[in-house]
Amino acid sequence: MPRADDGLPGPAPDEVQARLLAWYDRHRRRLPWRAPPGERPDPYAVWLSEIMLQQTTVQAVKPYFERFLRRWPRVTDLAAAPQEEVLGAWAGLGYYARARNLHACARAVAERHGGRFPDTEEGLRALPGIGPYTAAAIAAIAFDRPASPVDGNIERVTARLFSVTEPLPGAKPKLKALAATLTPRRRPGDFAQAKMDLGATVCLPRNPKCLLCPLEELCGARAAGLAEQLPRKAPKAEKPTRRGVAFWLTRPDGAVLLRRRPPKGLLGGMTEIPSTEWTAEAPGEAAALCAAPAAAEWEALAGLVRHTFTHFHLELTVWRGRLRDWEAVDGFWVLPDRLGAAGLPSIMRKIAKHALEAGG
Ligand code: ADE
Ligand code: SF4
Repeated sequence: MPRADDGLPGPAPDEVQARLLAWYDRHRRRLPWRAPPGERPDPYAVWLSEIMLQQTTVQAVKPYFERFLRRWPRVTDLAAAPQEEVLGAWAGLGYYARARNLHACARAVAERHGGRFPDTEEGLRALPGIGPYTAAAIAAIAFDRPASPVDGNIERVTARLFSVTEPLPGAKPKLKALAATLTPRRRPGDFAQAKMDLGATVCLPRNPKCLLCPLEELCGARAAGLAEQLPRKAPKAEKPTRRGVAFWLTRPDGAVLLRRRPPKGLLGGMTEIPSTEWTAEAPGEAAALCAAPAAAEWEALAGLVRHTFTHFHLELTVWRGRLRDWEAVDGFWVLPDRLGAAGLPSIMRKIAKHALEAGG
Protein backbone atom coordinates (compact mmCIF):
# COMPACT_ATOMS: atom_id res chain seq x y z
CA MET A 1 0.00 0.00 0.00
CA PRO A 2 1.10 3.61 -0.44
CA ARG A 3 2.63 4.72 2.80
CA ALA A 4 0.63 7.77 3.72
CA ASP A 5 1.28 6.96 7.40
CA ASP A 6 4.93 8.04 7.49
CA GLY A 7 4.55 10.94 5.10
CA LEU A 8 6.29 9.33 2.11
CA PRO A 9 4.35 9.75 -1.13
CA GLY A 10 4.31 6.26 -2.57
CA PRO A 11 5.63 2.77 -2.07
CA ALA A 12 8.86 1.96 -0.25
CA PRO A 13 11.72 1.81 -2.78
CA ASP A 14 13.40 -1.23 -1.25
CA GLU A 15 10.20 -3.25 -1.50
CA VAL A 16 9.58 -2.20 -5.09
CA GLN A 17 13.18 -3.08 -5.96
CA ALA A 18 13.13 -6.50 -4.31
CA ARG A 19 9.83 -7.55 -5.85
CA LEU A 20 10.51 -6.21 -9.29
CA LEU A 21 14.00 -7.70 -9.55
CA ALA A 22 12.71 -11.09 -8.35
CA TRP A 23 9.96 -10.88 -10.95
CA TYR A 24 12.49 -9.93 -13.64
CA ASP A 25 14.64 -12.94 -12.82
CA ARG A 26 11.68 -15.20 -13.63
CA HIS A 27 9.86 -13.30 -16.36
CA ARG A 28 12.40 -11.18 -18.24
CA ARG A 29 11.86 -11.12 -21.98
CA ARG A 30 14.57 -12.84 -24.00
CA LEU A 31 15.73 -10.08 -26.32
CA PRO A 32 18.70 -10.27 -28.67
CA TRP A 33 20.49 -7.29 -27.09
CA ARG A 34 20.26 -8.62 -23.55
CA ALA A 35 23.17 -10.41 -21.89
CA PRO A 36 22.53 -13.67 -20.01
CA PRO A 37 21.62 -13.09 -16.33
CA GLY A 38 24.52 -11.71 -14.33
CA GLU A 39 26.63 -10.78 -17.34
CA ARG A 40 27.28 -7.32 -18.71
CA PRO A 41 26.08 -6.73 -22.26
CA ASP A 42 28.21 -5.19 -25.02
CA PRO A 43 27.74 -1.39 -24.78
CA TYR A 44 27.65 -1.19 -28.57
CA ALA A 45 24.70 -3.62 -28.69
CA VAL A 46 22.92 -1.75 -25.91
CA TRP A 47 23.39 1.58 -27.64
CA LEU A 48 22.27 0.20 -31.01
CA SER A 49 19.14 -1.34 -29.49
CA GLU A 50 18.23 1.80 -27.56
CA ILE A 51 18.53 4.00 -30.66
CA MET A 52 16.42 1.54 -32.67
CA LEU A 53 13.81 1.17 -29.93
CA GLN A 54 13.03 4.90 -29.82
CA GLN A 55 9.58 5.19 -31.40
CA THR A 56 9.69 1.62 -32.71
CA THR A 57 8.37 -1.65 -31.26
CA VAL A 58 10.54 -4.48 -29.96
CA GLN A 59 9.10 -6.81 -32.62
CA ALA A 60 9.97 -4.44 -35.46
CA VAL A 61 13.45 -3.80 -34.10
CA LYS A 62 14.63 -7.41 -33.62
CA PRO A 63 15.45 -8.28 -37.27
CA TYR A 64 17.09 -4.90 -37.89
CA PHE A 65 19.18 -5.23 -34.77
CA GLU A 66 20.40 -8.68 -35.75
CA ARG A 67 21.18 -7.59 -39.31
CA PHE A 68 23.15 -4.55 -38.15
CA LEU A 69 25.21 -6.57 -35.68
CA ARG A 70 25.98 -9.24 -38.28
CA ARG A 71 27.01 -6.67 -40.85
CA TRP A 72 28.85 -4.33 -38.47
CA PRO A 73 29.90 -6.39 -35.42
CA ARG A 74 31.78 -3.54 -33.73
CA VAL A 75 31.17 0.18 -33.47
CA THR A 76 34.34 0.79 -35.48
CA ASP A 77 32.89 -1.29 -38.34
CA LEU A 78 29.75 0.83 -38.35
CA ALA A 79 31.84 4.00 -38.20
CA ALA A 80 33.77 2.90 -41.29
CA ALA A 81 30.64 2.11 -43.36
CA PRO A 82 29.50 4.61 -46.02
CA GLN A 83 26.50 6.64 -44.83
CA GLU A 84 24.40 5.46 -47.76
CA GLU A 85 24.80 1.85 -46.68
CA VAL A 86 23.79 2.65 -43.12
CA LEU A 87 20.72 4.59 -44.28
CA GLY A 88 19.84 1.74 -46.64
CA ALA A 89 20.06 -0.84 -43.86
CA TRP A 90 17.90 1.40 -41.67
CA ALA A 91 15.23 1.83 -44.38
CA GLY A 92 11.80 0.88 -43.03
CA LEU A 93 12.54 1.77 -39.40
CA GLY A 94 11.52 5.41 -39.90
CA TYR A 95 12.79 8.59 -38.27
CA TYR A 96 15.82 8.79 -40.51
CA ALA A 97 17.50 11.54 -38.53
CA ARG A 98 18.13 8.75 -36.03
CA ALA A 99 20.06 6.76 -38.62
CA ARG A 100 22.21 9.76 -39.53
CA ASN A 101 22.89 10.43 -35.86
CA LEU A 102 23.59 6.74 -35.31
CA HIS A 103 26.32 6.90 -37.90
CA ALA A 104 27.69 10.20 -36.57
CA CYS A 105 27.73 8.69 -33.08
CA ALA A 106 29.61 5.58 -34.22
CA ARG A 107 32.20 7.82 -35.83
CA ALA A 108 32.53 9.95 -32.71
CA VAL A 109 33.05 6.86 -30.54
CA ALA A 110 35.61 5.49 -32.99
CA GLU A 111 37.49 8.75 -33.44
CA ARG A 112 37.18 10.48 -30.07
CA HIS A 113 36.99 7.52 -27.72
CA GLY A 114 39.12 4.85 -29.39
CA GLY A 115 36.06 2.70 -30.16
CA ARG A 116 34.85 2.46 -26.55
CA PHE A 117 31.61 4.04 -25.38
CA PRO A 118 31.95 6.47 -22.46
CA ASP A 119 30.66 4.81 -19.28
CA THR A 120 28.86 7.77 -17.65
CA GLU A 121 25.59 9.51 -18.42
CA GLU A 122 27.43 12.77 -18.93
CA GLY A 123 29.96 11.29 -21.34
CA LEU A 124 27.22 9.54 -23.28
CA ARG A 125 25.10 12.71 -23.47
CA ALA A 126 27.90 14.46 -25.35
CA LEU A 127 27.53 12.05 -28.29
CA PRO A 128 25.31 12.70 -31.34
CA GLY A 129 21.77 11.33 -31.05
CA ILE A 130 22.06 10.45 -27.35
CA GLY A 131 19.54 12.39 -25.26
CA PRO A 132 18.78 12.11 -21.54
CA TYR A 133 16.71 8.93 -21.89
CA THR A 134 19.25 7.06 -24.00
CA ALA A 135 22.22 8.18 -21.89
CA ALA A 136 20.49 6.95 -18.74
CA ALA A 137 19.47 3.66 -20.37
CA ILE A 138 22.98 2.88 -21.64
CA ALA A 139 24.65 3.98 -18.39
CA ALA A 140 22.33 1.71 -16.38
CA ILE A 141 22.14 -1.32 -18.70
CA ALA A 142 25.68 -1.43 -20.08
CA PHE A 143 27.65 0.04 -17.16
CA ASP A 144 25.52 -0.61 -14.06
CA ARG A 145 25.35 3.07 -13.18
CA PRO A 146 22.44 4.02 -10.91
CA ALA A 147 20.73 5.97 -13.70
CA SER A 148 16.98 6.17 -14.22
CA PRO A 149 15.85 6.11 -17.85
CA VAL A 150 12.17 6.99 -18.30
CA ASP A 151 10.45 5.85 -21.50
CA GLY A 152 6.72 5.54 -22.18
CA ASN A 153 6.40 2.22 -20.38
CA ILE A 154 8.24 3.48 -17.32
CA GLU A 155 6.17 6.68 -17.30
CA ARG A 156 3.00 4.60 -17.19
CA VAL A 157 4.23 2.25 -14.47
CA THR A 158 5.45 5.20 -12.40
CA ALA A 159 2.21 7.18 -12.79
CA ARG A 160 0.28 4.16 -11.58
CA LEU A 161 2.56 3.13 -8.74
CA PHE A 162 2.47 6.66 -7.30
CA SER A 163 -1.09 7.34 -8.45
CA VAL A 164 -0.12 10.53 -10.27
CA THR A 165 -3.30 12.08 -11.64
CA GLU A 166 -1.85 15.14 -13.42
CA PRO A 167 -2.01 14.65 -17.17
CA LEU A 168 0.89 14.10 -19.55
CA PRO A 169 2.90 15.78 -20.92
CA GLY A 170 2.83 18.23 -17.96
CA ALA A 171 3.46 15.43 -15.48
CA LYS A 172 6.70 14.33 -17.15
CA PRO A 173 9.15 16.09 -14.80
CA LYS A 174 7.29 14.79 -11.76
CA LEU A 175 7.24 11.23 -13.11
CA LYS A 176 10.94 11.45 -13.87
CA ALA A 177 11.70 12.58 -10.33
CA LEU A 178 9.50 9.89 -8.79
CA ALA A 179 11.02 7.17 -10.98
CA ALA A 180 14.50 8.26 -9.87
CA THR A 181 13.57 7.78 -6.20
CA LEU A 182 13.13 4.05 -6.85
CA THR A 183 16.49 3.39 -8.54
CA PRO A 184 18.54 0.77 -6.69
CA ARG A 185 22.32 0.89 -6.31
CA ARG A 186 22.48 -2.81 -7.08
CA ARG A 187 21.38 -3.91 -10.57
CA PRO A 188 20.05 -0.56 -11.79
CA GLY A 189 20.14 -1.79 -15.40
CA ASP A 190 18.04 -4.85 -14.61
CA PHE A 191 15.70 -2.66 -12.59
CA ALA A 192 15.15 -0.27 -15.50
CA GLN A 193 14.56 -3.17 -17.88
CA ALA A 194 12.24 -4.81 -15.35
CA LYS A 195 10.07 -1.69 -15.41
CA MET A 196 10.12 -1.71 -19.21
CA ASP A 197 9.11 -5.36 -19.28
CA LEU A 198 6.43 -4.87 -16.64
CA GLY A 199 4.99 -2.04 -18.71
CA ALA A 200 5.12 -4.13 -21.90
CA THR A 201 3.66 -7.37 -20.52
CA VAL A 202 1.70 -6.67 -17.30
CA CYS A 203 1.09 -2.99 -16.64
CA LEU A 204 -0.45 -2.58 -20.10
CA PRO A 205 -1.95 0.70 -21.32
CA ARG A 206 -5.40 -0.89 -21.42
CA ASN A 207 -6.45 -3.81 -19.23
CA PRO A 208 -3.42 -3.87 -16.93
CA LYS A 209 -3.03 -7.36 -15.42
CA CYS A 210 -2.87 -6.20 -11.82
CA LEU A 211 -3.62 -9.69 -10.51
CA LEU A 212 -0.36 -10.94 -12.04
CA CYS A 213 1.66 -7.91 -10.99
CA PRO A 214 4.48 -8.22 -8.45
CA LEU A 215 3.74 -4.65 -7.33
CA GLU A 216 0.01 -5.04 -6.80
CA GLU A 217 0.13 -4.59 -3.04
CA LEU A 218 2.35 -1.52 -3.38
CA CYS A 219 0.47 0.21 -6.15
CA GLY A 220 -1.32 3.50 -5.53
CA ALA A 221 -3.48 3.37 -8.67
CA ARG A 222 -4.57 -0.19 -7.90
CA ALA A 223 -5.57 0.83 -4.37
CA ALA A 224 -7.47 3.85 -5.67
CA GLY A 225 -9.17 1.90 -8.47
CA LEU A 226 -7.49 4.13 -11.06
CA ALA A 227 -5.09 1.71 -12.73
CA GLU A 228 -6.67 1.76 -16.16
CA GLN A 229 -7.24 5.52 -16.13
CA LEU A 230 -3.61 6.48 -15.53
CA PRO A 231 -1.60 8.11 -16.85
CA ARG A 232 -4.07 10.79 -17.89
CA LYS A 233 -3.30 12.58 -21.11
CA ALA A 234 -4.02 16.16 -22.14
CA PRO A 235 -5.99 16.18 -25.40
CA LYS A 236 -3.73 16.29 -28.44
CA ALA A 237 -4.02 18.59 -31.42
CA GLU A 238 -5.23 16.79 -34.56
CA LYS A 239 -2.54 15.92 -37.04
CA PRO A 240 -2.85 17.88 -40.26
CA THR A 241 -3.03 16.12 -43.64
CA ARG A 242 -0.68 16.94 -46.49
CA ARG A 243 -1.19 15.99 -50.09
CA GLY A 244 0.88 15.60 -53.23
CA VAL A 245 1.56 13.70 -56.43
CA ALA A 246 4.27 11.03 -56.76
CA PHE A 247 5.77 10.30 -60.17
CA TRP A 248 6.29 6.69 -61.18
CA LEU A 249 8.44 7.12 -64.27
CA THR A 250 9.68 4.09 -66.20
CA ARG A 251 12.23 3.72 -68.96
CA PRO A 252 11.86 1.41 -72.01
CA ASP A 253 13.59 -1.43 -70.09
CA GLY A 254 11.10 -1.07 -67.22
CA ALA A 255 13.53 0.61 -64.79
CA VAL A 256 12.01 3.18 -62.43
CA LEU A 257 13.35 6.65 -61.67
CA LEU A 258 14.54 7.23 -58.12
CA ARG A 259 16.36 10.13 -56.50
CA ARG A 260 18.24 10.84 -53.31
CA ARG A 261 16.57 13.36 -51.01
CA PRO A 262 18.51 16.37 -49.72
CA PRO A 263 20.59 15.50 -46.64
CA LYS A 264 18.57 17.60 -44.16
CA GLY A 265 14.93 17.47 -43.17
CA LEU A 266 12.24 14.80 -43.38
CA LEU A 267 13.64 11.51 -44.79
CA GLY A 268 16.93 13.38 -45.29
CA GLY A 269 19.44 11.48 -47.42
CA MET A 270 16.98 8.66 -48.15
CA THR A 271 16.07 7.28 -51.56
CA GLU A 272 12.78 8.58 -52.94
CA ILE A 273 10.33 8.29 -55.75
CA PRO A 274 10.11 11.86 -57.09
CA SER A 275 7.04 13.85 -56.08
CA THR A 276 5.61 17.33 -55.83
CA GLU A 277 5.91 19.13 -52.53
CA TRP A 278 3.53 17.89 -49.86
CA THR A 279 1.08 20.65 -49.00
CA ALA A 280 -2.30 21.09 -47.28
CA GLU A 281 -4.04 21.43 -50.64
CA ALA A 282 -3.38 18.83 -53.33
CA PRO A 283 -1.46 20.41 -56.22
CA GLY A 284 -3.48 21.12 -59.34
CA GLU A 285 -2.66 19.43 -62.61
CA ALA A 286 -0.57 22.33 -63.90
CA ALA A 287 1.48 22.58 -60.71
CA ALA A 288 2.04 18.82 -60.69
CA LEU A 289 3.18 18.86 -64.33
CA CYS A 290 5.69 21.58 -63.44
CA ALA A 291 7.16 19.38 -60.71
CA ALA A 292 7.28 16.23 -62.86
CA PRO A 293 10.80 14.86 -63.42
CA ALA A 294 10.37 14.63 -67.22
CA ALA A 295 8.00 15.51 -70.00
CA ALA A 296 6.03 12.33 -70.47
CA GLU A 297 2.43 11.37 -70.96
CA TRP A 298 1.25 11.15 -67.38
CA GLU A 299 -1.69 9.07 -66.27
CA ALA A 300 -3.15 9.41 -62.76
CA LEU A 301 -3.61 6.00 -61.13
CA ALA A 302 -6.80 5.33 -59.20
CA GLY A 303 -6.68 5.44 -55.42
CA LEU A 304 -4.45 7.12 -52.84
CA VAL A 305 -1.31 6.10 -51.01
CA ARG A 306 -1.59 6.97 -47.32
CA HIS A 307 1.12 7.23 -44.70
CA THR A 308 1.36 8.81 -41.26
CA PHE A 309 4.48 10.63 -40.08
CA THR A 310 5.09 12.03 -36.60
CA HIS A 311 3.54 15.39 -37.36
CA PHE A 312 1.17 14.83 -40.28
CA HIS A 313 -0.80 12.40 -42.41
CA LEU A 314 0.16 12.15 -46.06
CA GLU A 315 -2.08 11.32 -49.02
CA LEU A 316 -0.46 10.89 -52.40
CA THR A 317 -1.87 10.37 -55.85
CA VAL A 318 0.46 8.41 -58.12
CA TRP A 319 1.04 9.49 -61.69
CA ARG A 320 2.52 6.97 -64.07
CA GLY A 321 4.64 8.00 -67.03
CA ARG A 322 6.66 6.00 -69.55
CA LEU A 323 9.71 7.36 -71.32
CA ARG A 324 9.87 6.24 -74.93
CA ASP A 325 13.52 7.20 -75.35
CA TRP A 326 16.55 6.89 -73.13
CA GLU A 327 16.43 10.53 -72.11
CA ALA A 328 18.77 11.95 -69.51
CA VAL A 329 16.75 12.62 -66.33
CA ASP A 330 17.94 13.73 -62.91
CA GLY A 331 18.18 10.71 -60.60
CA PHE A 332 19.00 7.06 -61.08
CA TRP A 333 17.19 4.06 -62.53
CA VAL A 334 16.37 0.82 -60.75
CA LEU A 335 14.62 -2.23 -62.15
CA PRO A 336 11.44 -3.15 -60.23
CA ASP A 337 12.88 -6.47 -59.02
CA ARG A 338 15.84 -4.56 -57.51
CA LEU A 339 13.65 -2.12 -55.56
CA GLY A 340 13.83 -4.28 -52.44
CA ALA A 341 17.58 -3.60 -52.24
CA ALA A 342 17.24 0.12 -52.94
CA GLY A 343 16.74 1.10 -49.29
CA LEU A 344 13.34 2.71 -49.75
CA PRO A 345 11.59 4.17 -46.68
CA SER A 346 8.09 2.83 -45.95
CA ILE A 347 6.18 5.60 -47.74
CA MET A 348 8.23 4.99 -50.91
CA ARG A 349 7.63 1.24 -50.70
CA LYS A 350 3.91 1.94 -50.51
CA ILE A 351 4.06 4.10 -53.63
CA ALA A 352 6.01 1.40 -55.49
CA LYS A 353 3.52 -1.27 -54.44
CA HIS A 354 0.60 0.88 -55.56
CA ALA A 355 2.18 1.53 -58.96
CA LEU A 356 3.22 -2.08 -59.49
CA GLU A 357 -0.24 -3.34 -58.56
CA ALA A 358 -1.64 -0.98 -61.20
CA GLY A 359 0.60 -2.65 -63.79
CA GLY A 360 3.96 -0.92 -63.25
N1 ADE B 1 12.64 -0.40 -24.83
C1 ADE B 1 13.67 0.45 -24.82
N2 ADE B 1 14.77 -0.12 -24.30
C2 ADE B 1 14.42 -1.40 -24.01
C3 ADE B 1 15.11 -2.49 -23.46
N3 ADE B 1 16.38 -2.39 -23.13
N4 ADE B 1 14.42 -3.63 -23.26
C4 ADE B 1 13.13 -3.69 -23.61
N5 ADE B 1 12.43 -2.72 -24.13
C5 ADE B 1 13.06 -1.56 -24.34
FE1 SF4 C 1 0.36 -1.57 -13.07
FE2 SF4 C 1 -1.67 -2.84 -11.88
FE3 SF4 C 1 0.86 -3.45 -11.30
FE4 SF4 C 1 -0.18 -1.14 -10.51
S1 SF4 C 1 -0.82 -3.16 -9.88
S2 SF4 C 1 1.82 -1.46 -11.41
S3 SF4 C 1 -1.48 -0.65 -12.24
S4 SF4 C 1 -0.17 -3.74 -13.27
